[in-house]
Amino acid sequence: MGEYVTHEHDVLIIGAGGAGLRAAVEASAAGVKVAVITKSLLGKAHTVMAEGGVAASMGNVDDRDNWRVHFSDTMRGGQYLNNWRMAELHAKEAPDRVRELEAWGALFDRTKDGRILQRNFGGHRYPRLAHVGDRTGLEMIRTLQDHGIHLGLDVFMEYTVVALLKDGDRIAGAFGYDRERGRFHLFRAKAVVLATGGIGRAFKITSNSWEYTGDGHSLAYNAGATLMDMEFIQFHPTGMIWPPSVRGILVTEGVRGEGGVLRNKNGERFMFKDIPPLYADQTANSEEEGWRYTQGDKDARRPPELLTRDHVARCIRREVREGRGSPHGGVFLDISWIKEKIPQSAEHIKKKLPSMYHQFKQLADIDITSEPMEIGPTTHYTMGGIRVDADTQMTNVPGLYAAGECAAGLHGANRLGGNSLSDLLVFGKRAGEYAANFAKQNSVGAVNPDELKSLEKRALRPFENDASENPYAVQHALQDMMQELVGIVRTEQEMVQALGGIQELVKRATLASAGGNREYNAGWHTAIDLQNLLTVSEMVTRAALERKESRGAHFRDDFPAKDNQFATFNILIKKGVAGEMQISRETIPPMRDELKQIIQEMK
Ligand code: FUM
Repeated sequence: MGEYVTHEHDVLIIGAGGAGLRAAVEASAAGVKVAVITKSLLGKAHTVMAEGGVAASMGNVDDRDNWRVHFSDTMRGGQYLNNWRMAELHAKEAPDRVRELEAWGALFDRTKDGRILQRNFGGHRYPRLAHVGDRTGLEMIRTLQDHGIHLGLDVFMEYTVVALLKDGDRIAGAFGYDRERGRFHLFRAKAVVLATGGIGRAFKITSNSWEYTGDGHSLAYNAGATLMDMEFIQFHPTGMIWPPSVRGILVTEGVRGEGGVLRNKNGERFMFKDIPPLYADQTANSEEEGWRYTQGDKDARRPPELLTRDHVARCIRREVREGRGSPHGGVFLDISWIKEKIPQSAEHIKKKLPSMYHQFKQLADIDITSEPMEIGPTTHYTMGGIRVDADTQMTNVPGLYAAGECAAGLHGANRLGGNSLSDLLVFGKRAGEYAANFAKQNSVGAVNPDELKSLEKRALRPFENDASENPYAVQHALQDMMQELVGIVRTEQEMVQALGGIQELVKRATLASAGGNREYNAGWHTAIDLQNLLTVSEMVTRAALERKESRGAHFRDDFPAKDNQFATFNILIKKGVAGEMQISRETIPPMRDELKQIIQEMK
């Protein structure tokens, strides 16, 4: 006990996805000493699952696009619960962030005249997603990591952080262990940036990989930071559903952006049946018009498959529930039909969607150039997260920053596809810049050795528990319950039941035991992850109970309509002095007139 390795940096970044790496690049370029901690290996982050592209209004394919349209689309998609200042900064700065990435070596697909090619995606009025086939996130991570490494970052791979440390009110560092040897490490730092991604592993069906256990959300909460909008979980409409071992893996929206259509078992384009009034002005009236839109006809309107993700996911659920689903409980997504329109369509599909072609061929023995895919909704993203200042990304804890998926604000009630990659570039950069400034103006805070001893004791508890609880069994019970009771469609009765279930699982989790020793002990790691998963599950459930309406990604069967009284505030969460989870409402500040005017004009 009490033995640990100490590291000291100016800025400590927790998470090595796009936001973490972009923050690291910026902080490092500002001349401060930077460390990046990742739970996994460098290059393996959920960022790679934003396959279809990065949204930036460069106007390369349609010159009517500009930051104003992007701002207005993002606000409309988020049902106006977005932090409008973040939406403004994001829309204005995304094009520069993409060009900068290109200058650092990212190889985007090209227009015929050699500019960065942009594709259609749901909720974006014009073709806006700069892309690299269907491997955009991967290319982004590769580029940022190559660039960052040359700036001289210290990278700590396969480390888990168990707590943030504070000196009085302000941040002083973090405490964790390396997963390989199980040794404890103290990271002293003047500023800390959380960039840990999402919480998808709290649900059974998810596109998220094993690391997405809400660590940053939970670390911030325990350090006194406020969280916001946790009721808004995005269920991406198209995940694989068959075979069972690959259920949840993402099928990019890029398939629909390239002309893929959704059909039920009767062959109907069921998305034409239900066009939300908010998008009636932008949606195609016929299959032919929708096709023309995907092929770049500027006078055509978008097919209903490219409505926002929340709506598409609910329509798929409806088809399945009403008995019109595919054999394995989803619907059909078909890109092969374009052979009616494009000669050499198989080559075209393989070029535009190479990963999807290989994914289905290898995992499901389906050739997407000649047969439809079976798909269904998968938990993909959390709009909610740590509340930050729009310009600086600092939380209410001095010296603690958050960026990317673990931060809240930009996306409001629902995120548009492609806005996550631009989010992490724009706000990752800002977090890195302001964290570096903070570090230059402050000394390193003091750390209390007794606190470290007690953190270590708590982390090692699974080795002392007898084998009464298996951490995997607790995790699976939580995932099943969240999927069933706090999923795409929610009711008060089911969520109250879920809260009771979470309390039971909290008790079981304290008894979770780990056999063997500390080296690469996956059972031990899972027992530790459980604390975070249970904390974020409670946040989602409590916030969802509080919002007694349906808006964006949050749909209540007992309150199926939007309610204007809920249109003006965000739901906040913080830890009370007695350790209880406190819920409150915060009124959204009035938008600047010039931004209001943009929204009016675009309507
Ligand atoms: O469908 C996709 O390629 C996912 C993109 C995103 O979540 O932004």
